[in-house]
Amino acid sequence: MNRIKIFDTTLRDGEQSPGCSMNLPEKVELARQLEKLGVDVIEAGFAIASPMDFKSVQAIAAAVPNCTVASLARCTKGDIDTAWDAVKEACHPRIHIFLATSDIHMEYKLRMTREQVLSCISEMVAYAKSKCADIEFSAEDASRSDRTFLTQCYSRAVAAGAGTLNVPDTVGYSTPQEMSQLIAYLRQNVAGIEQVDISVHCHNDLGMAVANSLACVQAGATQVECTVNGIGERAGNASLEEIVMALKTRQDFYRAETGIQTRQIYRTGKLLSSITGVPIPPSKAIVGANAFAHESGIHQHGVLANAQTYEIMKSEDVGIPQNTMVLGKHSGKHALREKLSSMGYELSDVEMDDVFARFKDLADLKKTITGSDLEALVLHHRSAGATACQLVSHVVNAGDGLPNTSCVKVRRDGKVLQEVAIGSGPLDASFKAINRMLGMDVKLDSFSLNAVTDGEDAIGEAVVKISDSSGETYTGTGLSTDIIESSIRAYVNGINKLIEATA
Ligand code: KIV
Ligand code: ZN
Repeated sequence: MNRIKIFDTTLRDGEQSPGCSMNLPEKVELARQLEKLGVDVIEAGFAIASPMDFKSVQAIAAAVPNCTVASLARCTKGDIDTAWDAVKEACHPRIHIFLATSDIHMEYKLRMTREQVLSCISEMVAYAKSKCADIEFSAEDASRSDRTFLTQCYSRAVAAGAGTLNVPDTVGYSTPQEMSQLIAYLRQNVAGIEQVDISVHCHNDLGMAVANSLACVQAGATQVECTVNGIGERAGNASLEEIVMALKTRQDFYRAETGIQTRQIYRTGKLLSSITGVPIPPSKAIVGANAFAHESGIHQHGVLANAQTYEIMKSEDVGIPQNTMVLGKHSGKHALREKLSSMGYELSDVEMDDVFARFKDLADLKKTITGSDLEALVLHHRSAGATACQLVSHVVNAGDGLPNTSCVKVRRDGKVLQEVAIGSGPLDASFKAINRMLGMDVKLDSFSLNAVTDGEDAIGEAVVKISDSSGETYTGTGLSTDIIESSIRAYVNGINKLIEATA
């Protein structure tokens, strides 16, 4: 069995996708979950990109002792110094250096000759190695680079001390066969390649990122770079959960294994989705709401007779909550803790008190509380962290033909404020009232509402994206069986994040 390292770049490449930005506490929280998931390497960010990126990489380096923590760096001393400063306190630090090697990138972007690129690789990998024992080198746009030249680049990187050679399909152009041939070619031609890890990093522009990555594993790659839910630049990166479950489910074929705790997969995807407010598409493989659902009668009949007729994986193996044991208003804290623990959530006593109080409120409104309801409560508990403002109460008047009005009462730093506003709808009126009472110039960029479970008493989860006058965006989420309340809660949650970030 070949052991494949999982290099997670959700916090770097993933965070580059529109709408997926995260603040520092959110990044640390996700990094901790990635550690629980069992990834080998967390690419925590691109430390030189901004002071906030630097701080996030530094905080993650301190927070996750059991993973290697990497920072990305261009092939310059300034980038390498900053990357090293950010990761040096990690238990296992790594600097990940990249330089483009395709003719088009060298000519138009870098304006460097092949000779200059080769010297730069030797010099900068050696410089980084003098600081950090673990160096990864990526030849950006490797899949469109001249093979002979690419071989020279990687040979230089190994000679200068790189322990991992990453082969990116930066623009998602390659086919599985081409990627597999490229890995085979590099294994035959790069000097010293047998001493290092061969990594792949595939983008999904043609929908082939996962297939390309798996083809590389077959050809001898020992590390795969990927992201939770497949987020990333443009069409995204190879999806972590698809790669891991393909290797596990088809171990007979790939003869490879990872160190991933697969029962943490679903939870990780949901956490990312709740932090970014980007929903998981229903048909997404492994973690989508329909991934294990059987609609057609023929399929249902088959599954009832023998699950393996139509199921190649068990939903519990990826940690999807089984809605078998339901709780209700008479359930106590002990039962709640047991249920949460069976779903992989271990809460501290303080967290438990808060979630239990929310559980009791919800139990007054809903007859039965399912695993999905509980999951929403726990995820909401985490996003409710920043609490400069708390919603006290609201009354809306909505209808057709008359102006919609809303009166909202909020407690800010212990003081109760209230305001009435007119708007084009009940939410517009409510958000205007909140802006006015807090004296804030906040713009609503997007709004979405999803039912967490089925049925008429389903919890509605609202997600708002707001931006301040500098254009910085914040994601807020809110939960309630009343959709207006969940929307106002989401708005207040977003405002709290804004206040915290700008304090
Ligand atoms: O897609 C890419 O080439 C990258 C590199 C920086 C590894 O993200
Ligand atoms: Zn990339």
